[in-house]
Amino acid sequence: MENKWSGVDRLFLNSLLTNDENLDYVLEANRAAGLPQIDVSPLQGKLLHLLAKVKGAKRILEIGTLGGYSTIWLGKALPADGKLYSLEAHPYFAEVARDNIARAGLQDKADVIIGNALDTLPSLLEQNRNIFDFIFLDADKPSYPDYLKWSIKLAAPGAIIIADNVVREGEVANPQSTDERVQGIQQFLQLIANEPRIDATAVQTVGSKGYDGFVLAYVK
Ligand code: SAH
Ligand code: DHB
Ligand code: MG
Repeated sequence: MENKWSGVDRLFLNSLLTNDENLDYVLEANRAAGLPQIDVSPLQGKLLHLLAKVKGAKRILEIGTLGGYSTIWLGKALPADGKLYSLEAHPYFAEVARDNIARAGLQDKADVIIGNALDTLPSLLEQNRNIFDFIFLDADKPSYPDYLKWSIKLAAPGAIIIADNVVREGEVANPQSTDERVQGIQQFLQLIANEPRIDATAVQTVGSKGYDGFVLAYVK
């Protein structure tokens, strides 16, 4: 199956992404820098881009930068006065991301904040309460429940929250899973179910990144 998914991804990529949207140079820079290849796929990057555009997002928060691939897709959806903050724990990844962001011409719009997100989110909240209209969660999965709580504090009414990697080859449906990443997603889903301010759905995905999926949530 995997080959078929990748083949269809390639077809969609070739027919739907224009040349000037080609951000392969970012993926190449990340590979050359030795970063893990866990960026969103190009088609998923474009989905994030289009969702941010449809929303008319002006203030974007991303948790989990890596080399800035998703950051750049999202940053390119911002208007001239838009701003994106991306939180990254590893200083070296952040350095690679900043280089890529500058190469994409987004250095004035996209800030990478270095540190464990649970340590940097409080200061972000001090300056930016209820202003984010688009939030992308993509860092360590055991912290997703905490990231959701922070997102609710930081989100403007009507904000969209996207959370990556909520399927993990279907393991999310295994209540006996001992994988703390899977357990983190399970608790995240439970928290959404009990949170009256959130309306959400989830989409399973296949493609060049295998079998996974994302949650799309709306903050009332
Ligand atoms: N969004 C990126 C991929 C992110 S991979 C893209 O699609 O291009 C997940 C990233 O989260 C890694 O770079 C990892 O270092 C970072 N991370 C993990 N735990 C973190 C934490 N507690 N705080 C901030 N970043 C964290
Ligand atoms: C992993 C993390 C991700 O954000 C992703 O998209 C794929 C894999 C991981 O930690 O294995
Ligand atoms: Mg991910």
